[in-house]
Amino acid sequence: MRVLILVFLCLSLDTYAQELLLKPKFILDIETGKLLQNDIHVKDGIIVRVGKNLSSKTATIISMPSKILLPGLMDTHVHLIGNTDLQGYENISESSYLSTLYGVMNARKTLHAGFTTVRNVGASNYTDVALRDAINRGIIDGPRMLVSGPPLGITGGHCDNNLLPYELSRPGQGVVDSPWEARKKVRENRKFGADLIKFCATGGVMSKNTDVNAKQFTFQEMKAIVDEAHNHGMKVAAHAHGLEGIKTAINAGVDSVEHSSFIDEETIMLAINNDVFLSMDIYVSDYILGEGALNGILEESLEKERKTGRLQRENFRKAVNLGAKITFGTDAGIFKHGNNAKQFKYMVKWGMTSLQAIQASTIVAADLLGINNIAYIKEGYYADIIGVEDNPIVNIEALENVTFVMKDGSIIINQP
Ligand code: ARG
Repeated sequence: MRVLILVFLCLSLDTYAQELLLKPKFILDIETGKLLQNDIHVKDGIIVRVGKNLSSKTATIISMPSKILLPGLMDTHVHLIGNTDLQGYENISESSYLSTLYGVMNARKTLHAGFTTVRNVGASNYTDVALRDAINRGIIDGPRMLVSGPPLGITGGHCDNNLLPYELSRPGQGVVDSPWEARKKVRENRKFGADLIKFCATGGVMSKNTDVNAKQFTFQEMKAIVDEAHNHGMKVAAHAHGLEGIKTAINAGVDSVEHSSFIDEETIMLAINNDVFLSMDIYVSDYILGEGALNGILEESLEKERKTGRLQRENFRKAVNLGAKITFGTDAGIFKHGNNAKQFKYMVKWGMTSLQAIQASTIVAADLLGINNIAYIKEGYYADIIGVEDNPIVNIEALENVTFVMKDGSIIINQP
């Protein structure tokens, strides 16, 4: 009997803790940019009521008179697995096990910075699948994750391992060199738990001996990847800097183009007409050429970055002006996790309004991810909510200092 009472008490305490009434200074309406004087009632991870001066007999009141609340932020291009202090050749010195443990720390930092959802685009050994599952099971704290597994790429391209000589080298786990190999790899990634497919449609900045302007994969190969992925309901993200690779990937039917550095106006229109999202990581260039240069990034990469970053920012402005669907993707992992929000001020500097930049990281990102019931503070939506001390519409850098994080209705941080 005593045990039964105890069990009952624990259960009811638990439910009690899961019912909260948040009383902030304001809620930022991310559709209009207006501040609303509303409270939020959260129960079992879901927003159940939003309104003025709410009261409840059962919910715990959380008073937060200094905070402006908005939906949890999303970053649709991160690499949570790995030690961000390692660059170039140092990267091959650590095991996948250790990289995954760094991933645990990186996931926590990302969530604490206000990013409640991320898309992880590229990791070996399905370590990203394990991290996602550990978060979903509540073993560790981290953002909601969508993961790709090993990114597909050509022999010797970005997404292969190019640092070692022939006799010591092992191909990247996603290397495929024909449409049928590509289909098989998509099937394999799905089998082992990937949510989406990432492939490299051009060379990259951070890889050895690849050309950012060179297309990787033929149209037929890209088409096979997209067809196979879409057949299984998986979205496809294509890494692409050079114009030819970007165009070919869009024509092959990808859902998002990552980086999009050398995109021109005609191709921005092609993306718009094909409903393709552009993800343009316009903060990371300053990191690579600043701090990163001191940390062992290969000279070859620095040289490529000098020719990429500036143009990417100019093309970002063009894409904003033409009305492209731009999602918030940073490539965190090159720089330290938890600094994702630094990109907001770059997006504003290069042509977006603050509201557009916030929407890129909420409404637009959720649309790309295909997750419903997320990205709004509305009845029936997941209680993924963050708080800041200043109005980000007026001061976008307020998002760099997140003082309240709730994910799935649980309070992760609440700093006074
Ligand atoms: N992962 C990308 C690559 O290696 C990073 C590109 C960073 N540079 C930039 N301007 N976005 O190609």
